[in-house]
Amino acid sequence: MNKLKICVAGATGWAGSALSQGIADAADLELVAAISRRYDGKTLEEAIGIAGLTTPIFGSVDDALKTGPDVFVDYTKPDVAKFHVLSALKSGAHVVIGTSGLSSADYDEIDGVAKAVNRGVLAVGNFAISAVLLQKFAEMAAKYIPNWEIIEYASSGKVDAPSGTARELANRLSNVQEASLEVPLDKIDGIKESRGARLQGTQVHSVRLPGYVISIDAIFGMPDQKLIIRHEAGTSAEPYVNGALLAIREVGKLVGLHRGLDSVMKF
Ligand SMILES: NC(=O)c1ccc[n+]([C@@H]2O[C@H](COP(=O)([O-])OP(=O)(O)OC[C@H]3O[C@@H](n4cnc5c(N)ncnc54)[C@H](OP(=O)(O)O)[C@@H]3O)[C@@H](O)[C@H]2O)c1
Repeated sequence: MNKLKICVAGATGWAGSALSQGIADAADLELVAAISRRYDGKTLEEAIGIAGLTTPIFGSVDDALKTGPDVFVDYTKPDVAKFHVLSALKSGAHVVIGTSGLSSADYDEIDGVAKAVNRGVLAVGNFAISAVLLQKFAEMAAKYIPNWEIIEYASSGKVDAPSGTARELANRLSNVQEASLEVPLDKIDGIKESRGARLQGTQVHSVRLPGYVISIDAIFGMPDQKLIIRHEAGTSAEPYVNGALLAIREVGKLVGLHRGLDSVMKF
């Protein structure tokens, strides 16, 4: 069997190290390269203790891409992810984006380059199945209930806001309709920002406090009734591994940018 060759940028991080273990355990995948500045020149076994994993770690994307991966996964930081992704596409790899914090303009640019080089990009704000289902159910609800808002919660150290999950959800709901506001934002009496950020037609509120990990509420309101759809994640990176493996296996069937794991799931 020809194994799919994978490069993981951010392989030594919280999410990337769990994924690297998942790839190492998969019979059809081969982890040919990893990216981390701190562990440049080491192997993944030396860096994160995955027994027998001699995958080399590179400090730069250009060096890592010389290993010729079929699929490039980014699990780093928003300030560097777009550069990684564009470099990977130009090298001929398909790309899975796990990193959150990229803007709509970043995604538009990535989509243009992916189409130009005839490669697929799958950007998934949250690989956990319960988060994927929340997105799907919220999309259904938005067809029937025109008023909704999103509240997302994370630990105090999370630097990007709104979260990738919230950005992806707002993006999907914008394809259904814009959320209605009874009082337009410019008619707010008081502090307009207290109504949250308007993101692609949805009000989004980001809470950052110690004690939270990652959770999100999609709240749909109608007179005398409401629907609250909640996803909550625990402290391990385990929920994201299977979804990311599915994305890695399926992204080669896509061309251009696709957002959300359900792009490659059967419902
Ligand atoms: N889509 C999902 O389901 C999902 C799930 C979990 C997390 N995430 C997102 O994934 C991203 C990573 O999260 P995390 O918690 O794993 O972060 P983390 O633990 O801080 O790990 C970040 C990784 O990226 C590398 N990195 C950071 N800056 C880099 C740069 N300039 N060049 C090359 N490598 C760089 C780090 O290595 P060095 O510092 O050694 O370079 C490290 O390996 C975040 O955006 C997070 O929101 C998404």
